[in-house]
Amino acid sequence: MTDPGVPRKLASRPLNIVVGITGGIAAYKAVGVIRAFVLLGHDVHVVATDAALRFVGRPTLEAISRNPVHTDLYEGVAQVRHVAIGQAADLIVVAPATASSIAKLAIGLADDLLGTTILASSAPVVVAPAMHTEMWVNAATAANVATLQSRGIRVVGPGTGQLTGSDAGVGRMVEPDEIVAAALAALRPRDLSGRRVLVTAGGTREPIDPVRYIGNRSSGRQGVAIAGAAALRGATVELIGANLEVSPPPGVRLTEVSSAAELAAAAATSAASADIIIMAAAVADYRPEITTQSKIKKETQGDRLRIDLVKNPDILAGLASTRHRGQVIVGFAAETEPDDSALLALGRSKIVRKGADYLVLNRVGWTEGFAVPDNRVLVIDLAGDIVMEASGSKLSVADRILDLLA
Ligand code: C5P
Repeated sequence: MTDPGVPRKLASRPLNIVVGITGGIAAYKAVGVIRAFVLLGHDVHVVATDAALRFVGRPTLEAISRNPVHTDLYEGVAQVRHVAIGQAADLIVVAPATASSIAKLAIGLADDLLGTTILASSAPVVVAPAMHTEMWVNAATAANVATLQSRGIRVVGPGTGQLTGSDAGVGRMVEPDEIVAAALAALRPRDLSGRRVLVTAGGTREPIDPVRYIGNRSSGRQGVAIAGAAALRGATVELIGANLEVSPPPGVRLTEVSSAAELAAAAATSAASADIIIMAAAVADYRPEITTQSKIKKETQGDRLRIDLVKNPDILAGLASTRHRGQVIVGFAAETEPDDSALLALGRSKIVRKGADYLVLNRVGWTEGFAVPDNRVLVIDLAGDIVMEASGSKLSVADRILDLLA
């Protein structure tokens, strides 16, 4: 399985990930981190300190990582192992990172295999601190953490909650899933830094009466994935979400809307300041001409109900016609055409009609496109040329679209 959140140049092969484990009780949770990376198809090499192995057994780490565990600085000297592991790494994750290991990292101490591995590596380093609250808030630890961050080392957590004893507070290592997500995010380029990106996602609902609407099956997954990936790549992201079925990603500003009219109003407010506009939302083409103020009742309607629909303004075409110089506009077209050539023909006339710079085409149907984690897209430009094809998780498709824009 290819990793859902890794840029293309790295996603084509399994990543070499070093998981450094230091001596804290949260070491048992490092097993979950290793497991998640292995299940994503990556090659995991554990470098554990002696203290870490007092908390979690070598056989567990070897079975889960499917590789030998390294501890000893004087092991494999002929292969110059003290630097070779770090040189080969694409990513280093230290989980848990104790107060002591953070202090060592801050001064570049290389008195054990984990220290030499990190110093000898040019890979991104992510640390997940775990310690008691008093140690975390201590000025020495705070200064060490600031030093790590100033060098580009990502610090994920700690979280707040129950600690090892009966006490609670800040200092818990965050859960494995969060560490894995932060670690993979560290591999993304910050190539949208300073850019303002407006993304619309979800499906609009056009009200019939106070309890009913005409809607569509869009879950918002693809747009949310784009918004999240753009934020991780350094953009300032505004997400206009229409009835999202998935949680918005961290680090984006969310405006919730329901109908096409609300989406249009929110987009009009935000569009002027955006460098890139990505219209991934499924916007209803028609709305009921009249929205009744009370519930329509079958007792008064009889056997047949007629609802007249009127056309909604095309928001994308409107934004494209009033865009400022340099603003890039991307539209989506989800269609039920039977094959790629029919999809392309339709897309080529649509992009001209709308005036977008790029149109992302995908096929939808009863079982594809909507509310599923994967997607397959073709991207065309205004000239009608295919500029990109991508398939895979919606997150990997999101990164490929952003690669094109960045
Ligand atoms: O015309 P169609 O609905 O296929 O176009 C899809 C693209 O146009 C999407 O990017 C969608 O967000 C946008 N759209 C819009 N306003 C509408 C209908 C669609 O902005 N009324």
